[in-house]
Amino acid sequence: MVASGTYGWGEEAALLLDLDQLGAFVTKTVTLKPRLGNPPPRIWETPAGLLNSIGLQNEGLKVFLKKALPIFERFRVPLIVSIAGESVEEYLALAEALEDEHRVNALEINVSCPNVKEGMLFGTSPRLTAELVRNLRRATSKTLIVKLTPNTGEIKEVAQAAENEGADALSLVNTFLGMAIDLRTRRSRLSTLFGGLSGPAIKPLALRYVFEVYRAVKVPIIGMGGITSGEDALEFIIAGASAIAVGSASFRRPDAPLQVLRELTSLFEELGVKSLKEIKGSFQYE
Ligand SMILES: Cc1cc2nc3c(=O)[nH]c(=O)nc-3n(C[C@H](O)[C@H](O)[C@H](O)COP(=O)(O)O)c2cc1C
Repeated sequence: MVASGTYGWGEEAALLLDLDQLGAFVTKTVTLKPRLGNPPPRIWETPAGLLNSIGLQNEGLKVFLKKALPIFERFRVPLIVSIAGESVEEYLALAEALEDEHRVNALEINVSCPNVKEGMLFGTSPRLTAELVRNLRRATSKTLIVKLTPNTGEIKEVAQAAENEGADALSLVNTFLGMAIDLRTRRSRLSTLFGGLSGPAIKPLALRYVFEVYRAVKVPIIGMGGITSGEDALEFIIAGASAIAVGSASFRRPDAPLQVLRELTSLFEELGVKSLKEIKGSFQYE
């Protein structure tokens, strides 16, 4: 899959790669109202990674339904729509608006959005995540994927809360909070204090979270974080991922997800692996 936020809503992606070869297309997060995002600069390249503070820039639900969704009528690729809100009500309004859209196969719940009332990120708290997923489960018949943030000391508890309230799958991880300082101005390299770190720099951290969450839940996991090759992807599968997503690698190679898929296919052949199921979660550690 492509990771949310790295291939927009499909318009440009369709020009860059054959979408129908993907396991699924995950959209940039859609919010109820349009969002301008943070002012520039909002991308800073780091050794083996990328700090971003896009701030969920997007044109909002109405434009998504009118402009972006029809693009997918031309493709067969399963479509996963990422949504985020600042309150449970906003998430519900998004889920309800997408419920009757036949082209939408699943919702990915981006819980890395601050709850306006409580002032903390939904995904940092097992309690807030449980409340959100409980409400969403009642509001949608679509496959419900909860995307976890690593910026909490309680990722396993958040994962279990999502599973207990009816999440069908989990995606992990979103970006890790980081910062970079301009030595001349002594200010942040970004317009915000912190940004989200992605890319190869986070791969070992993401892999550890996938493994830990895999041991704590039964629902399938979509693993991501720094995957740039078939070997990276296979590590995530052995750690317990049922599917993988590629994000930042596409900034170097727009067809990176398909390249990873090709490499993974030859690795399966080379290692004599017949199916993903056979190797998933087969990490030897005892
Ligand atoms: C520029 C950029 C924008 C992103 N936007 C979103 C987003 O809108 N929603 C979301 O859930 N994740 C977003 N992410 C996080 C990615 O989906 C992914 O979880 C993370 O980057 C780790 O994967 P990677 O190392 O392969 O990029 C974004 C990442 C980047 C680099």
